[in-house]
Amino acid sequence: MDIKIVRSTNRGTMPPAEKLGFGSVFSDHMFIMDYNDKDLWHDARIVPFGPVILNPAASVLHYGTEVFEGLKAYRTPDGGVQLFRPRDNAERLNNSCKRLKIPALDPDVVVQAIKTFVDIDRDWVPSYEGASLYIRPFVFSTDPNLSLHGVHEARFMIIASPSKAYFSSGFKPVPIMVETEDVRAVRGGTGEVKCGGNYAAANRAGERAEEKGYSQVLWLDGVERKYVEEGGGMNVMFKIAGHLVTPRLTGSILPGITRRSVLQLCRSWGMEVEERLISIDEVIQAAVDGTLEEALCLGTAAVVAPIGALEYNDRVYRINDEKTGPVSERIYKELTDIQWGRRPDPFGWTVRV
Ligand code: COI
Repeated sequence: MDIKIVRSTNRGTMPPAEKLGFGSVFSDHMFIMDYNDKDLWHDARIVPFGPVILNPAASVLHYGTEVFEGLKAYRTPDGGVQLFRPRDNAERLNNSCKRLKIPALDPDVVVQAIKTFVDIDRDWVPSYEGASLYIRPFVFSTDPNLSLHGVHEARFMIIASPSKAYFSSGFKPVPIMVETEDVRAVRGGTGEVKCGGNYAAANRAGERAEEKGYSQVLWLDGVERKYVEEGGGMNVMFKIAGHLVTPRLTGSILPGITRRSVLQLCRSWGMEVEERLISIDEVIQAAVDGTLEEALCLGTAAVVAPIGALEYNDRVYRINDEKTGPVSERIYKELTDIQWGRRPDPFGWTVRV
């Protein structure tokens, strides 16, 4: 694929470390590629970051026809830049496109686009402790037609934001609220793909949790409201009576790349991790009888965040005295050391740019 490059003449500046949050400052450029039924995916280009002009009838604005990814570029100790499992994101983006009937994007094209884009904006990969360049590829329908239809015109874009981890508290235990009213997804719906609508539907519960002082919600399954599914924007894992467990991918849970990496990492240490249905009653019972040793969130944006407290039906259950447990600590350390290139990557996950 040929990518046309138009360099920005108005270069921005990286905020100082203490001002860096998550996803609010953007690098100098953006990647764009368009689709129509005649030319298919075409006109790949990297241009200065700026507003997008859309027909007001564009399907994305009415029917939420949009899918996205999140991955990061890391500054390595030798000053280089590397990505973490970009091919996995490219494949998941393609799966998400298929679910919404957005024209498929070849994962090779997506990886090439990400690498070329990050190379152009490599100065935006921060070297601050715990910071990285968060990359957001997204695809949406631009069809200017209000009827309900398949996608005949679309756009694939990539933007990037130098960011710290999602939770401003850093690697510290966060309080989470179990959501008992709204549900995130049901099997057969869109829960196992990464589409904007999943996150829009989560807004109300997320706001309620935040108002009560919680960092996130913990979603239960959409049918029985009995089984733990995932956090708001991240997967979860528990250590109960010495066993690591994470919800099985039932069809309504996002197959997280951090989740997959942590499973591989723990198994490489000889630890067993069960992927199975976990009821909220089991988690709460374990919290009550003291066998809930650790709980953690896993996600690209969140990295690894220990869960210090769980609220369920107006009662708060503290986990490990709201301290980071040894397994969470080890996972965080080894995963982030690989991501930032501070230790060799025996899994072949990292890709230099
Ligand atoms: C990510 O972890 O990359 C996500 O897409 C989660 C989002 C809520 C920030």
